[in-house]
Amino acid sequence: MTTQKIGVIGAGAIGQLMFNLLSSQINSQADAKVYLIARELSSDSQTLQFTDLAHSSHNHTITLLGQDSPEVAELDLVIICVKAYQVDELICHFLPRLANHCHIILLHNGMGPHLNVAKHLLNYPKMGLSLATTSHGALKHAQWQVTHTGSGQTTVGHYTGHQLADSLKDSLTQAIPKLTWHADIITALWQKLIINCAINPLTAIFECKNGQLAQDSFAEHINIIVAECCEVAKADGISLSLAASLEMVYKVINLTANNISSMYQDILQLRKTEIDYISGYVVERAAQHQIAVPANVNNQQRIKALEIYR
Ligand code: PAF
Repeated sequence: MTTQKIGVIGAGAIGQLMFNLLSSQINSQADAKVYLIARELSSDSQTLQFTDLAHSSHNHTITLLGQDSPEVAELDLVIICVKAYQVDELICHFLPRLANHCHIILLHNGMGPHLNVAKHLLNYPKMGLSLATTSHGALKHAQWQVTHTGSGQTTVGHYTGHQLADSLKDSLTQAIPKLTWHADIITALWQKLIINCAINPLTAIFECKNGQLAQDSFAEHINIIVAECCEVAKADGISLSLAASLEMVYKVINLTANNISSMYQDILQLRKTEIDYISGYVVERAAQHQIAVPANVNNQQRIKALEIYR
């Protein structure tokens, strides 16, 4: 049997979570191996501390691969877990270094980078691209210390090029809890995008936890944001009803009531946000279809202003 080699690129909270889930399952199998690939250029030995959902801590020392490590050329699958705005530069770095049959999975908040990645892949006809979204919660306390804070769902689906091999699909399904394969991944990504368009900017602008958005004072605002998103999705060929989308948004608000959204965290920690790939993606698609989306434009502008002045 040939050895499957999987690389997780990106050592943020979600990257380390995915690596830990996969390596606890996969590195115990003789026929598979998983690597964590970080920004460093050369390989390095590192001890990772991972606290699971049952609050047990596990330490393991691994060889972290650098972006130019020769092992990168042997990978069958890479799961890219970086911020949406980092994808394009990263993909340009990795494509010439990957095996010509390597499959790529993009896992980040927001939408948009897949369009450019698909264009790059036209030059790599044996590769394939899948897209994923996850609602697992993970918190990074220090560079190599991550806690799995909440059980969530992960959805993956094929987007373009060669299909991911069944054996690799099986490995992912076994290792990542509640992972499902979706034939229409773009619809699944739009559903998540609408949730992020409603929750992320509002929590950052009004400096509140997700749960506070359930207050009546936010209802009209959320309604307008979600209605604009549904109209643009429809023009993009994705049919999502306003009622079902609002129901989903309020379900997530209630399930994550105590969370500080990723965008509010970015603003608090003076980091760049993913607004251009959340509200910004809706604004961009709306412009293509000549649809007015003032609430999403306003959210994008207000978050940009917060990014600058904090
Ligand atoms: O970005 C986030 O914070 C999350 O995607 C979500 C679902 C809004 C929960 O906080």
